[in-house]
Amino acid sequence: MKVPLTGAAATLLAPLYARALDASSPHPMLADSTAPELVQKIEYDFGALGMRPSNAVGVALRARFFDRRTREFLTAHPNSTVLHLGCGLDNRVDRVERGPGVRWFDVDQPEVIEVREQLFSPRSDHRTIAASVTETDWLAEVPTDLPVLVIAEGLTMYLAADEGPRMLRALVEHFSEGEAVFDTYARYAVRSTRSMALFRKTGARLAWGVDDPRELEREVPGLRLVKSVKAYHTADPADFRRLPFALRTRMRVDAEVLARLPVLGRVGHLSRYAFG
Ligand SMILES: C[S@@+](CC[C@H](N)C(=O)[O-])C[C@H]1O[C@@H](n2cnc3c(N)ncnc32)[C@H](O)[C@@H]1O
Repeated sequence: MKVPLTGAAATLLAPLYARALDASSPHPMLADSTAPELVQKIEYDFGALGMRPSNAVGVALRARFFDRRTREFLTAHPNSTVLHLGCGLDNRVDRVERGPGVRWFDVDQPEVIEVREQLFSPRSDHRTIAASVTETDWLAEVPTDLPVLVIAEGLTMYLAADEGPRMLRALVEHFSEGEAVFDTYARYAVRSTRSMALFRKTGARLAWGVDDPRELEREVPGLRLVKSVKAYHTADPADFRRLPFALRTRMRVDAEVLARLPVLGRVGHLSRYAFG
């Protein structure tokens, strides 16, 4: 099928393709078998997105990081709500096993949810919301009686600089208790991406940069930073050991050396915040 996606919506094809490359590699990190099936079904020049097997490992490790934190949260809160913002065609709802007490909402722009609904079978414990995450009226559809886990992977950098904090304020005001886990890019990284193949191909532009994850505690009353890791440090040590030697060595060099450099070291973060 052809997918009529452009701009930020079309960028979902890059992590989808990365998950497919990962699943087809001899050393899969995420092993999401749905991703290659979706790539097969979608008529698109995936090669033009600039995603290579070596970048795909990084995307798969990032997804594993979010899956791991989701599992930990659901173990601690077997009755809870998961709000997965900017879900794209990610299949986390199937990857993360959970009990009957969990309600799961996948949120993305209407054109993305339309494609998603053509490709995924409906599930009784899952709902999609077709809306911009920044026009937060849709929050009225999400009950507030249970602790919430808000996940946003590869989303924040696409929001305008004033929209991101506004969205977080609306979330913190709406839910009485919860956690938000998301990745951010530094301001210089947001500015320097224009020439990348993904952005040339899709026309998407990044806008919101966050240099220090603590900034958001000041901008969003009630949000408390629990933990933040640099973008190079998403892998669990056990994941590293499963990688082939050459790749593991290269990624370790990135993790140890690049993370210490004043500029490259702060290219991005994955952060976990609590509220309520
Ligand atoms: C790079 S993709 C990441 C998709 C998915 N999280 C993944 O990892 O596969 C960025 C996603 O953010 C979504 N997005 C961007 N701006 C949005 C907005 N204002 N409201 C809802 N979704 C948005 C896009 O539609 C796209 O699905």
